[in-house]
Amino acid sequence: MSDIIAQLEAKRAEAMLGGGQKRIDSQHAKGKLTARERIDILLDEDSFEEIDMYVEHNCVDFGMDEQHIPGDGVVTGSGTINGRLVFVFSQDFTVFGGSLSERHAEKICKVLDNAMKVGAPVIGINDSGGARIQEGVASLGGYADVFQRNVLASGVVPQLSLIMGPCAGGAVYSPAMTDFIFMVKDSSYMFVTGPDVVKTVTNEIVTQEELGGAVTHTTKTSVADVAYENDIEALLAARDFIDFMPLSNREEVPERPTADPWDRLEESLDTLIPDNANQPYDMHEVIRKMVDEGDFFEVQPAHAGNIICGFGRMEGSTVGVVANQPMVLAGCLDINASKKAARFVRYCDAFNIPIVTLVDVPGFLPGTSQEHNGIIKHGAKLLFAYAEATVPKITIITRKAYGGAYDVMASKHLRGDLNYAWPTAEIAVMGAKGAVEIIFRGKTPEEIAERTAQYEARFANPFIAAQKGFIDEVILPHSTRRRVALGLRKLRNKQLENPWKKHDNIPL
Ligand code: HXC
Repeated sequence: MSDIIAQLEAKRAEAMLGGGQKRIDSQHAKGKLTARERIDILLDEDSFEEIDMYVEHNCVDFGMDEQHIPGDGVVTGSGTINGRLVFVFSQDFTVFGGSLSERHAEKICKVLDNAMKVGAPVIGINDSGGARIQEGVASLGGYADVFQRNVLASGVVPQLSLIMGPCAGGAVYSPAMTDFIFMVKDSSYMFVTGPDVVKTVTNEIVTQEELGGAVTHTTKTSVADVAYENDIEALLAARDFIDFMPLSNREEVPERPTADPWDRLEESLDTLIPDNANQPYDMHEVIRKMVDEGDFFEVQPAHAGNIICGFGRMEGSTVGVVANQPMVLAGCLDINASKKAARFVRYCDAFNIPIVTLVDVPGFLPGTSQEHNGIIKHGAKLLFAYAEATVPKITIITRKAYGGAYDVMASKHLRGDLNYAWPTAEIAVMGAKGAVEIIFRGKTPEEIAERTAQYEARFANPFIAAQKGFIDEVILPHSTRRRVALGLRKLRNKQLENPWKKHDNIPL
């Protein structure tokens, strides 16, 4: 018996070493952790239970029949994050460059299948040279098997991708179909074709980092949500992030005990809105003063800063926050902001996360660039997302809510459950000056100024909307947290269903 145990231990030790110490050292020299080190940081201590440790590839071409490394380049299993179950796969770059073989793909599929069966999030750590070149089409088939499961799992269990090395070619499409992507600066990249192919085809010279590094994807493309300095920072952030998430679409949002009083008043919010309506203020301040302990996990902070999206908690339970940011483009909705917030709203709705919307929006961003790039279609995404969402929706208009953007931002008309306004709210078709210049075209500047003052006096307040019941109550800014907390309590058992359909047809 002791022999058998010794053999097992030797086999395990061999598997744990992946591609060997030399390759582990090379991984460390690049500032990267190994697949197993990453899992150790991601999960609670000693909680990881590995499966398929002894799986090997089945390729016999190009001398592969003589190279077998147990595990085949991906470490898979499950464990806990702060006591809650998650499923994990972590590609091991020390084994055939983390490349994806048929068996490697089967291991990932098993993780996704198991997670779906019991309803728990999947975290995929990507560090791979792509399709296992020696295997050819078997590898491509493996990718497609993973893609199919990513799609079936979408909206059923949260899927988070951590990109911690190369992720290129068709391989990018698995993370791209997950809910959120975190990247590591300088050591991770994602692109469909790399710099060499780009140079051959288009004659452009570009580095990997410029083409598809963490900064590119979290600022320009919005392919990724957040960029971190190193592996450890990204893994610890993933732990915080998972703490906000329900385990699946059948579970309630998690509750975390908080010492923050639900009725905490924030007097400073009463003076936040500047006297001059064109002067910006930082909407982050409202968010941080509203949510428990000021703890807010922002997604896509570096992309479309004119809208803020992220997760916080109220009375310990997760909420999604969407907020116009007057500090960037005056808080206008543009293409990028609409797409960013639409996807976020749909995620929240899929996972029963109530949405709190803070509104200060002067309208859609004008310009040929916006029109020619399809602001109509992209703006419709956000409108569609809010309109179809059945989770509790609480909206607070802090200042401007002009034009179509008023409708879009979780208005009463889109089934907002509780629509509040601060006394500083201005709800109108457009800003006073623009409105008067249209209605009183050709009048003298003095008359325009007089009419503008009249228009402001009439419309630059929340009371006309409140008279119509479009605003449920005008609330004092300092009581925002209290009102939102109370509202969420009352909406806890909200029941609302959309008509049966196979699926909708959101403008893509
Ligand atoms: C098999 C691979 C591999 C691959 C890397 N390796 N990529 N083995 N299939 N795709 C192996 C190397 O042979 C090497 O083995 C080890 O991994 C580390 O690779 P290095 O090149 O030494 O590392 P580095 O210099 O860091 O470069 C990393 C790299 C490069 C940029 C990823 O390896 C590379 O360009 N690989 C090929 C990428 C590629 O073209 N993949 C196919 C893309 S098409 P040893 O034994 O020396 O340690 C694709 C289609 C997917 O993925 C379609 C899905 C639908």
